[in-house]
Amino acid sequence: MRILSGIQPSGVVHIGNYFGMMRPAIELQAEGEALYFIADYHALTSLRDPAALRENSRRVALDFLACGLDPKQATLFLQSDVPQVTELAWILSTVAPMGLLERATSYKDKVARGLPASVGLFSYPVLMAADILIYDSDAVPVGRDQKQHVEITRDLAIKINETYGEILKLPEPRIHAQTETVPGLDGQKMSKSYGNTIDIFATDKEMRKRVMSIVTDSTPVEAPKDPDASSIAQLYSLVSTAEETAALRAAFAQGGMGYGDFKKQLFERLWEFFSPMRARREEILAQPDYIDAVLKEGAERANTVANKVMARVRSAVGL
Ligand code: ADP
Ligand code: TRP
Repeated sequence: MRILSGIQPSGVVHIGNYFGMMRPAIELQAEGEALYFIADYHALTSLRDPAALRENSRRVALDFLACGLDPKQATLFLQSDVPQVTELAWILSTVAPMGLLERATSYKDKVARGLPASVGLFSYPVLMAADILIYDSDAVPVGRDQKQHVEITRDLAIKINETYGEILKLPEPRIHAQTETVPGLDGQKMSKSYGNTIDIFATDKEMRKRVMSIVTDSTPVEAPKDPDASSIAQLYSLVSTAEETAALRAAFAQGGMGYGDFKKQLFERLWEFFSPMRARREEILAQPDYIDAVLKEGAERANTVANKVMARVRSAVGL
């Protein structure tokens, strides 16, 4: 089984990325041939600062490794180290129905949030389809928000196969029900672009500040509280056992404790949960050439797979 996923280096990784995509991807690395990449071409649709893009790309690689990606088991690389993917995206775009892309919700959402309505942003799903199809991927671990993109990928592969014969493999999304959408500080989906994140590798002070700023209502300390009215209990459940979560929910319902106390408990849990990853991150940082070496080797392996699939595609379409 070949497993593939990508993450944009458009900012710093947060706990939504971790539970929605990074942890499932890391868990799958032992189950097949895993290929994970930093989607720097995709990030160009929202980030136009070259120094920041370069720095974020390395940082996302570092953070992914710190979280447990094992380069002996999984291949980690930069999307732009396999430029053939843009060639496949072009070929896919020639069979992609406009209507299919017009129905994609992420383009509309991003434009509504103020991203420039570029052709690249519109055809973002076509490039993502190329990312997936160029490696003959079977499984794609992602958060809920990416499901439609994997469906579009399947539609485009079917179009190509109908037109040129069975040359592309149809992938399946892998979405974990419990962590499909991690809520942010304001209760909306946690996202870099909503400014509502808790970053995995924030300092103690920053992480505490973020947790303390989770939006809550004005229920008085002594009154019972609805554990589902803020993100506190849901985030707590991600880093605690089922019994601990049940105890926290019972304390909400009982009243007598303020939101501030619950937030402090959540902060302690989060800080502890990510502490082995922080330690691993320090170890990696102490080896200055490690990340570049991992990405270089990853690029070589990814190119080998991509070249095979591209040879098949070029020949089938008549190039
Ligand atoms: P962001 O929305 O912060 O820009 P990305 O689009 O780079 O995040 O997402 C990278 C991966 O992390 C994707 O697989 C996405 O589904 C997952 N992901 C992002 N935010 C969340 C979230 N709040 N809950 C679950 N998964 C998420
Ligand atoms: N669009 C994905 C995101 O924003 C990133 C991505 C690009 C991706 N190409 C991919 C994810 C291929 C999975 C497979 O999160």
